[in-house]
Amino acid sequence: MDAPVKGWVYQPVPGFESHLARELSEGGSGCAPQRAGPFYLSETPPFMPNGASPDIPRDTVFWFQNCWLEPFQAVFASISEAASILRGIQRNWVAALFTQYRRGALIMKKLPPLSAKRRPFPWRAPDSPMGAWTLLDAHTLLASPRCSSPFPNGTLEFEEDKIHPPSRAYLKLWEAFALTGAMPGKHDRCLDAGASPGGWTWALAMLDATVAAVDRVSIDDALLTLPNVSFIKHDAFTLKPEDIGRIDWLCCDVICYPPRLYEWVEKWLASGLCDNFVCTIKMQGEPDFETTRRFAAIPGSRVTHLHHNKHELTWIYAPVASASPSALR
Ligand SMILES: C[S@@+](CC[C@H](N)C(=O)[O-])C[C@H]1O[C@@H](n2cnc3c(N)ncnc32)[C@H](O)[C@@H]1O
Repeated sequence: MDAPVKGWVYQPVPGFESHLARELSEGGSGCAPQRAGPFYLSETPPFMPNGASPDIPRDTVFWFQNCWLEPFQAVFASISEAASILRGIQRNWVAALFTQYRRGALIMKKLPPLSAKRRPFPWRAPDSPMGAWTLLDAHTLLASPRCSSPFPNGTLEFEEDKIHPPSRAYLKLWEAFALTGAMPGKHDRCLDAGASPGGWTWALAMLDATVAAVDRVSIDDALLTLPNVSFIKHDAFTLKPEDIGRIDWLCCDVICYPPRLYEWVEKWLASGLCDNFVCTIKMQGEPDFETTRRFAAIPGSRVTHLHHNKHELTWIYAPVASASPSALR
């Protein structure tokens, strides 16, 4: 029998469980989160993409890899019954087992397989929901037909280019674009702040965008030979929007305290000179929950922990960008 679970099931970001635990225990639900294996069950809501408003509740949660949005429990008698409960709801299910591995593998075999292939880029997450399930014991399923992430268990692996990009940081930008379906098009003007050694600049240049890379130290020499890349040796934050002029995308991966980034982004937003943003909010020691909420409060924003993020979150604001369908596979 199915029974809805009150609240949400959180899959923490590996290595940053304590951030999630803190967000949930300081949350306003009044109840401490429950634990089931690696999962946290809580009545404190996740930050939902594009659901931002100027009022972001103090208890909003950001530090998770995936959040199960419609969790339910079901008791089942057999492997076939467990699989048929899930199959009866929808097609896409990823397992997140922490116990009952053998039984779980048998259930998995009876579900439509998910592709384990690395994704090419450009690639966009499908619109169909991605469900997740686990076993609490030999006869109890915990599952959710909808999750915050369109990627299985919140993870996305790309076919990497191990030769050309000077750093692997470009995977964050690819993931942000795959998640939102929005990315720079040919000749779009991009500012890449904190560009060195040049992974993001490379990714933007490969989209045929025109890239101005800014950093205190130079980017990789090979990038400087590309006709659509220029380099400005400067402190990004002392560059005013008017110094740069109209751009389509501001991409920022500068290592700095989050309030410094927020202050700069505010100037860009106020200037009206940039339409779209992808910025890494890098935590310096303690996570900065307050500045994170300020970013999230910008209506239409998304603040998320990407699979390729480390001790950082990504703020994405792309209200007018639309992905070119031909760029998407
Ligand atoms: C994480 S790295 C960026 C990696 C880059 N996105 C890539 O794809 O290769 C951070 C960069 O921020 C630069 N940086 C730090 N403070 C800066 C500032 N105030 N202005 C410009 N760049 C800065 C550092 O020099 C460093 O190259």
